[in-house]
Amino acid sequence: QHIFTPLADAETAARTSRHIKITVVGCGNVGMAIAQTILTQDIADEIALVDAQPDKLRGEMLDLQHAAAFLPRVKIVSSTDYKVTANSDLAIITAGARQNPGETRLDLLQRNLAIFKRIVPPLATYSPHCILLVVSNPVDVLAYITWKLSKFPPNRVIGSGTNLDSSRFRSLLADHLHVNAQDVQAYMVGEHGDSSVALWSSISVGGVPVISSLKKNDSNLSPEMLEATRKAVIDSAYEVINLKGYTSWAIGYSVASLAFSLIRDQRRIHPVSLLAKGFYGIPDDKEVFLSLPAQVGRSGIHGVINIQLTEEEIKRLRRSAETLWECQTQLGF
Ligand code: NAI
Ligand code: 2OP
Repeated sequence: QHIFTPLADAETAARTSRHIKITVVGCGNVGMAIAQTILTQDIADEIALVDAQPDKLRGEMLDLQHAAAFLPRVKIVSSTDYKVTANSDLAIITAGARQNPGETRLDLLQRNLAIFKRIVPPLATYSPHCILLVVSNPVDVLAYITWKLSKFPPNRVIGSGTNLDSSRFRSLLADHLHVNAQDVQAYMVGEHGDSSVALWSSISVGGVPVISSLKKNDSNLSPEMLEATRKAVIDSAYEVINLKGYTSWAIGYSVASLAFSLIRDQRRIHPVSLLAKGFYGIPDDKEVFLSLPAQVGRSGIHGVINIQLTEEEIKRLRRSAETLWECQTQLGF
């Protein structure tokens, strides 16, 4: 006795369903915050989890599976073997060391480079058509390394970059102006780290450019307040790490929103880390990944947005590119 009477034959069912698979490598604080936020969004039919610690990995998988009655139907699998990731549409890499209080993101490079050499080749072999989304730090240099190791076209290798910094920026501006952060358009670009650049000239709230409010001496906005906000964005990860040891919830939402835009072909503009040579005066011979506002969709990066930047903003962006370039040349990769 069947529970229900099937009307569609197996072949029709297979033909009409498009199976979306997302892999998360690294099931620590960040990987699990991302996996659980993605689960709530109803964008994946299958989530594959990979980590180097088998017990922790199985524990995380079971814990998520036990929430099935409250979530969209998603198959959750896990293994230390990359076979489990085969045919992913999107692979998100969060594995590796994180900062201890006082360390910068760039301090993590050597430790995480060694880890990425073990992760990227099997991921690329098992899912040759996927989009690779790098989150581990330093995210820009590791996105560059992922591009080199995977040999994927640059549009399919993305770093989560300043999508998170921009969210912090928007939330601080929104608090100050007593508006909803979703109505604040504001981008941080460049390195996800200490040399990131705030694009003052393009900030708007509900379509009103902030720069014109400054000129009108709007008492809510001053150059000092904007500079303090920029500094607060850069300091904010250090503050959270000092307080709770790591950051997780905001990066979880930030990456889940990127996953949604990519998998559902939303063509939204996100500031993400991409191969930036040739854009905004970054020289063609400098193959650095850094964040620029880009349109993202099913094929990864669809294009880079041409925002009118001030001379000062361009200067700061190139300085950020220099910082990353120096870091990369020391690696000799
Ligand atoms: P965590 O220590 O909680 O988790 C790291 C996980 O990676 C562990 O479960 C570990 O077993 C796993 N791992 C280590 N080597 C591995 C390998 N070879 N293969 C598979 N898994 C391996 O660290 P957390 O807090 O989750 O941070 C992860 C990374 O994300 C760090 O590099 C951190 O700096 C970065 N991060 C990046 C952000 C961004 O905006 N791009 C935001 C927050 C963190
Ligand atoms: C963050 O900005 C530490 O990169 C990490 O939260």
